[in-house]
Order: sequence, then structure tokens, then C-alpha cells
Amino acid sequence: MVILKLLDEIERARASNRIVAEVLNRLREKVKPGVRTKDLEKIAERIVEKKGAKPAFKGYHGYPHSLCISINEVVVHGMPSERLLKEGDIVGLDFGAYYKGFFGDATITLPVGRVSEKALRLMQVTEQSLYAAIAQAVEGNRLGDISAAVQSTVENAGYSVVRDFVGHGIGKSLHEEPQIPNFGKKGRGIELKNGMILAIEPMVNEGKYEVQVLPDGWTVITKDGSLSAHFEHSVAITDNGPDILSKLD
Ligand code: MF3
Ligand code: CO
Repeated sequence: MVILKLLDEIERARASNRIVAEVLNRLREKVKPGVRTKDLEKIAERIVEKKGAKPAFKGYHGYPHSLCISINEVVVHGMPSERLLKEGDIVGLDFGAYYKGFFGDATITLPVGRVSEKALRLMQVTEQSLYAAIAQAVEGNRLGDISAAVQSTVENAGYSVVRDFVGHGIGKSLHEEPQIPNFGKKGRGIELKNGMILAIEPMVNEGKYEVQVLPDGWTVITKDGSLSAHFEHSVAITDNGPDILSKLD
């Protein structure tokens, strides 16, 4: 069942997502060659704690960290470690917060120092596909309109969308119905309604779409070793159209 939110619930979800946005904004300033990925997690944890919020991912299905840090060929769920960021890497930062009963969830992918043209283009296309999808998040559209917007943006640029991981509804739970695949057909799927909050999160591979999970049980990498990028926003569907709750300013 897809849970529709009241206006005051959307405002509570916004408060949680604003904390996520603040964390990602802060981390964006910190991402540089030589930074230890564990230290980025520490910074994130300090901010949520100061806000009186909780990190959403820690302990979720046993995930042992507060932040997902996915470097280069890592698609999602990369774990903070002693690893240092290095010039030319691209790094996905995925953070979730829980605050006053509601979850927030967002992801950005950033260049570390100077990166290749092809890495830049992959990140740009992935972010564009997110915004193309968000534009479809209006009442009366179908879920497939969101999925198709991601897929066509990505495939027209010569990349592929990951099949094995999807976006999701979000609210009093981190993951609610519906699942939001990044591939699909216009006009198909459930009808979108005002009051839905959707975490839309394209994961895009430079090469083929197949992925594999490393023996740590979490880290997802591209099977062909190609680069992957990930962007995510939590978006409310409202009378005034799509409202990006996790907007970074
Ligand atoms: N944004 C990701 C998701 O919605 C992050 C979840 S990481 C996990 O699935 F550890 F919480 F699973
Ligand atoms: Co998510």
C-alpha cells in the first residue's frame, strides 16, 4: 500500500530531509584528495547528532555505518573505511536521517579534485536523469513515467541503468511502497497522487548494467568494472507539482 502524507507530515519529512541536505552540503566541502572516508562519516554523524536526529542507515538490515560512500566502480552501499579519496575518483555520498518520526534520504556524486571528462559526463547525465524523473512526479502521471524518464535520459547518452536496486517511497519508514525502478515504460504502473513522497535514485553505469555484491555482503560494484554514478532526492508530489524535500542550497 502506498501511504499518502498530509501537508503537516510533508513538512515533518522536509525537516528530516533538510538535515540530510545540510550533511551532504558539508561533506561536499570536505571531499578532496587525501581525505579518509571514515572521517567523512564522522563529520556526518556529528551533524545529525547536533540536530537531535539519528542516522537512518546504521543498523538498517544490519548495515554497520551511517553513510554509504561509493567510489568509482562501486554502485551503492560502499562502506566508510581507512581508504583515502584520491585525485580523479568520483565519490557517491548517500545519507539518510530520522527526525521526529520521519525519514529523509538523498545522494550526490562528486569529483575528487580533477577528474576525467568521461567521469564528469557520467555524473552530469545521471543528475540530469534524476531531474527528468522529478519533472514527472505530478498527480495523474504513472510511476512508469518516472522510470522511463530516467531510462531514456541515460540510454540516449549511451549509459545503462542498474536493474537490481531501485528507488522507493519514504516517510515513517525508510523504504515504503512503491518501488521505483530506473527503467520502465511511460503510462504503466500505479497512478501518482498528491501526498506521495518518493525517493528517486538513478544508479547509472558507464558500461553494462550488471552488478555484483562483494563478499562483505554490502558493497555493490559494476560487473565490468566500469564507473558508476548515483544521485537521489526525496520528492513530495503536491498541488504545486514536485517538491524536492532534500534540495541542497
Ligand atoms: N539510499 C539507499 C537506499 O535507499 C541507502 C540505504 S543503505 C542501507 O536503499 F544500509 F540502509 F541499506
Ligand atoms: Co534511498
